[in-house]
Amino acid sequence: MNEQEKVNILMVDDQPSKLLSYEAILDELGENLIKANSGEEALQCLLKTEVAVVLMDVSMPGLDGFELAEMIRQHPRFQKTAIIFISAVHLTDVDRLRGYERGAVDYVSVPVVPELLRAKVSVFAELHRRSKQLELLNNELRVLSNRLIVAQDEERRRIARELHDSLGQCLSTAKMLAESILMTPNHSNQLLRQAATDISSLMDHAIQQVRSMSYLLHPPLLDEAGLQSALQWYLEGLSKRSSIDVSVDVQPDDFPRLAPEMETAVFRIIQEALTNVFRHSGATKARVNLMREEDRVICSVQDDGKGITDGVAEFRPGSIGVGIAGMRQRVKDFEGEIRLRSAAPGTLVEVVLPLTPQRVRLLA
Ligand SMILES: Nc1ncnc2c1ncn2[C@@H]1O[C@H](COP(=O)(O)OP(=O)(O)O)[C@@H](O)[C@H]1O
Ligand SMILES: [Mg+2]
Repeated sequence: MNEQEKVNILMVDDQPSKLLSYEAILDELGENLIKANSGEEALQCLLKTEVAVVLMDVSMPGLDGFELAEMIRQHPRFQKTAIIFISAVHLTDVDRLRGYERGAVDYVSVPVVPELLRAKVSVFAELHRRSKQLELLNNELRVLSNRLIVAQDEERRRIARELHDSLGQCLSTAKMLAESILMTPNHSNQLLRQAATDISSLMDHAIQQVRSMSYLLHPPLLDEAGLQSALQWYLEGLSKRSSIDVSVDVQPDDFPRLAPEMETAVFRIIQEALTNVFRHSGATKARVNLMREEDRVICSVQDDGKGITDGVAEFRPGSIGVGIAGMRQRVKDFEGEIRLRSAAPGTLVEVVLPLTPQRVRLLA
């Protein structure tokens, strides 16, 4: 829906002359005006069309305005539809309250002041248009965030492979060349021998670095052996590289293989949570739990560091960065849940992902 797109306004009254007069008043708003002569007809129309504002007479034979409002409100699709009551008789506060309880948003009394009715309807029509636009933008954003995560995973995988295959191969060849100098018989140039030795050990170092960069970008074990092995490998490395003692518990022992996108998501979530432990928490210990239940996978990362602020725990935009936002997006893509909280001491990150049969890989 764009800014100019018309919205539907449903006018309900049992007297055709009144419908005509509302039509004359509202015509200049330039929206779509729909007429219904009874509550029943209005319901039919609501089920078929998306309506922004319902303008209706309180007293009608058959379904009266209050009853109709109540029926409209009970339908989840119409919970936000604006309902304006027109009442010819004086309504007491108790009557009005009864109307509000049934979903009215406003009242107009008879005789209708055209400018007032137009202004009220126009406000609700505009509100509806804006909320539709917001809904559309939100959907676009959701799709875009999801694509971004998928693209990031693919890019990491590609760079990891390039690093490992191309650059890694070049470095290994260069190392062999340096060593071939050393193996030349009777080579007496001491300077050259020393240089070849240095080059060879520099190459060793570079090969190591390229390999761990590549593996961290995308652990080959994740595709080959699954989440459990990849995690074990990653956590061992992390314990070695940092001063944090990381322990892991995976249940059951024969943790199943999951759909590749789910294995990647869980691995990245744990990796991101541990990167935060490493960078922000000041913890000495961290614990990773990964558990498969009948229809869900639960993983948690807990540290004994300084904990998080309320802003981070509530995912406030100014408090979280791309790390937690990314975790949250991954969880959303699987219709799961993520919770962050201070665990006195430290921080607990908990993620639950529903496990459908399609997400468990059956091994031949
Ligand atoms: N385990 C933790 N311990 C303490 N603070 C944390 C922890 N995890 C996250 N935080 C806080 O939450 C903030 C947002 O994290 P994140 O979204 O990953 O972005 P970034 O790591 O880039 O700052 C961090 O800057 C840090 O202040
Ligand atoms: Mg982070």
